[in-house]
Amino acid sequence: MMRIDILSCVPSLLDSFFAHSILKRAQQANHVEVVIHDIRDYSVNKHRTIDDYAFGGGAGMVLQIEPIARCIRALQAEREYDEIIYLTPDGEQMRQPMVNQLSLKGNLMMLCGHYKGVDQRVRDLFVTKEISIGDYVLSGGELAAAVLADAIIRLIPGVLNDETSALTDSFQDNLLAPPVYSRPADFEGHKVPEILMSGHEAKIEEWRYEQSLKRTKERRPDLLQ
Ligand code: 6GU
Repeated sequence: MMRIDILSCVPSLLDSFFAHSILKRAQQANHVEVVIHDIRDYSVNKHRTIDDYAFGGGAGMVLQIEPIARCIRALQAEREYDEIIYLTPDGEQMRQPMVNQLSLKGNLMMLCGHYKGVDQRVRDLFVTKEISIGDYVLSGGELAAAVLADAIIRLIPGVLNDETSALTDSFQDNLLAPPVYSRPADFEGHKVPEILMSGHEAKIEEWRYEQSLKRTKERRPDLLQ
């Protein structure tokens, strides 16, 4: 079973996300255990503070190393981690091949930053991988951790059934997914492509491939380079 520990100073942001749908089922079926930790529980003072002003000045508070180090070390005493990931806009851009690799790991730790970020020494001493989910700035790493964890967990064998198989995802073959249709076959005169109702499996597969290629050429020609 995979284990994912997520360290956050706003853990309530993550709780509801993992309590639903596919991610809830994945945990109930013991494919993955997601444990969310409140960095504040590891504060070294009675006020439970975890951030302070940046040395050298400048706007914004910095997450201090001590609470984070205590939390990471407490977890490392329990098990070995394959990666300690820091979610940050200056990390390596998240893409499907990176997600595929991470889905094969046993124990992952994800650290969510806030404010101006974490003390650089956390990154130097503990973090093994820094990941960004795209070129825009979020107010915290929690949404990024949720995005990354979701993308990883759905690839664990058994989490998805055949109908929702990850093998036909956009990006797994560098092609966008083809259009899909369901009932009714005719909505106010707008009809489903004839071929999909023909029952001719080989022809349908060929049509889907052509549609994928067309879509990719139109929308993401960079994927075909
Ligand atoms: Cl990982 N964190 C934050 N705060 N903003 C982001 C991001 C991560 N990835 C893209 N923007």
